[in-house]
Order: sequence, then structure tokens, then C-alpha cells
Amino acid sequence: MSGTTRAATVAAIISEAAERLRAASVADARPEADLLLAHAAGTDRAHLVARLKDPLEAATIGAFRRTLARRLAHEPLAYITGHREFYGIDILCGPAALVPRPESELLVDLALAEVRARGAALRIADVGTGSGAIACAVAAHAPGARVCAVDVSSAALALARRNVEALGLGGRVDVGQGDLLGGLGALDLVVANLPYVSASEWRGLQPEVRDFEPRGALVAGPAGSEVNARLIAQAPAHLAPGGLLALEIGDTHAAVLSGIARGHFPGASVSVIKDLGGHDRVLLVRQEREAG
Ligand SMILES: C[S@@+](CC[C@H](N)C(=O)[O-])C[C@H]1O[C@@H](n2cnc3c(N)ncnc32)[C@H](O)[C@@H]1O
Repeated sequence: MSGTTRAATVAAIISEAAERLRAASVADARPEADLLLAHAAGTDRAHLVARLKDPLEAATIGAFRRTLARRLAHEPLAYITGHREFYGIDILCGPAALVPRPESELLVDLALAEVRARGAALRIADVGTGSGAIACAVAAHAPGARVCAVDVSSAALALARRNVEALGLGGRVDVGQGDLLGGLGALDLVVANLPYVSASEWRGLQPEVRDFEPRGALVAGPAGSEVNARLIAQAPAHLAPGGLLALEIGDTHAAVLSGIARGHFPGASVSVIKDLGGHDRVLLVRQEREAG
């Protein structure tokens, strides 16, 4: 941006930034330009849009230049602004953990339906919690429910703890370190969005993901289904009768993981749910209820 932007209006600065973002192949260039400028100006998008004709102060323009440069280098918007909305709550974001994705809201829908059907006393775990987004969304929308939020990454867990505290969920989301279900006891509901990208797929991901998000949050192994397969193998020892396992999966993994689930859970009901884009997205395993 040139020095002449000092006296430029909000509208002119947004329009120029959107153009540069578009040229850098950033999707949603205009809304992202709004959000970056709102962040730099210490306001929100609605207030910014209400003052499109106003000139901006030099300090705000300087701050905006720095945030725009980071986005033009493909750093994810949520890492720059430090937060992202997920299932109606504000989740603090940072490079220690994956930015929560809209498709993972399906796991929250399923968990909340389960709590409605069976009551808030369910023993619930969110495995591979990352920022804590899924655990926090379930607890925030299901008053009385308690969730164990587990991850192997201590850096991710530190962020999850910040989210739990910021959302006032301290008494109901217990954050702890563990390898999959390893440190947990009997559970009625397990939700998990674990790594499900293969090593070769990871190399072809967009720079926002490949170059900025933690590789350990994305890559499961050569096939991509390895971590979910290991979780399914552990689950029979933890899932109580009538319990539900809901795993977010890669869109090509439904057949292989359904087969593994049927092998480990004879008698259970195994099904796959598609996301809004029509891709296989969640594997559901409903444990048999006890006879009688
Ligand atoms: C795809 S990210 C999802 C984060 C979060 N659930 C979300 O939806 O935004 C996967 C998370 O699983 C964690 N993870 C990877 N392997 C794990 C394991 N063996 N046990 C527990 N967590 C693991 C990673 O550290 C990462 O935070």
C-alpha cells in the first residue's frame, strides 16, 4: 500500500486489500479484508462497515499493513486475529492447534443429540481436542454435561485450557494429556476429530494448512486412516453398553474404517454420515446394549 493511503477511507483501504488478497488466491478476499481491518482497528466488522466513508488514522493503517502482509503470506486468518467462531462460541486460536473447521460442527450436533436423548450425566470424551473447540461447544450447549478433553500435544492443551477458562467452563471440561483413550475409563460418548490426512495428501494441501497448522494435527501416516484405526481398536475396552463413538474421517476412509469397526465391535451398529458437501465425514459406532 502506498503512503497516499494515509488519508484513505475505510472503503478504499478495504477495496485495495481485497484486490491484493484476491491476487494472492485467498478465497473470500473481501470478507477477509474487512476482518483484518476490523482486527487492526480494534473493532468488529459491523462497526467497520458502518463507517466506510471515514478516513483511518496512520497508526491503524500501520497495524493493518502488518496484518495484511501476514495474510498475503498465507498465514490463516484465525491465527492473525487470534480467534474463530465455532458452533456459536468464540474459540481462541493459535499455531499450537488446528483452526476448528465448520465440518467438525457435525460432531457437536451428534453429541448434543446424544445428550438430549440420554441425559447430561453421560461420560463424554473429546479425543484429539486441539483448541478444545468440540469439547467446549458440547459443554457450552449442554448445561450440566461434563467432557474430558484429551490430546497428546501439550502446546494444544495449553490453548484448550485457555479456551475452557475464557468460556467459563472450568468445572465441566477437564483437559488432560493422553494417547487416544489410554488414560480414560468407561465412556458413554466418544467424539474425535483426529488426524486423517495421508503424508502425500499433506504435501498438496493449501499453504494456509500445510505451512502453518501443526503437522501432527493433520497427518496420520502413509494411508491417513491410521490414527482413527488405532482409536477404534482401543474403543471396545472403553465404550459402555449402548455407548456411541463418533469419529470424523477422511472422505475416502469410510469403507476401511467401517470394516475395522465391525471387526472390533461384533454386534454393534456401524454407519457413516455425510457432510453438507456430500462427502463421507463421520463414522458412527453404536455399542450393543447389554442383554436383558
Ligand atoms: C485434526 S486436529 C483436531 C483438533 C480439534 N479436535 C478440532 O476439531 O479442531 C487433531 C488433534 O489430535 C491430536 N492427536 C494426534 N494424535 C493423537 C493421539 N494419539 N492421542 C490424542 N490426541 C492426538 C493432535 O495433537 C491434534 O490436536
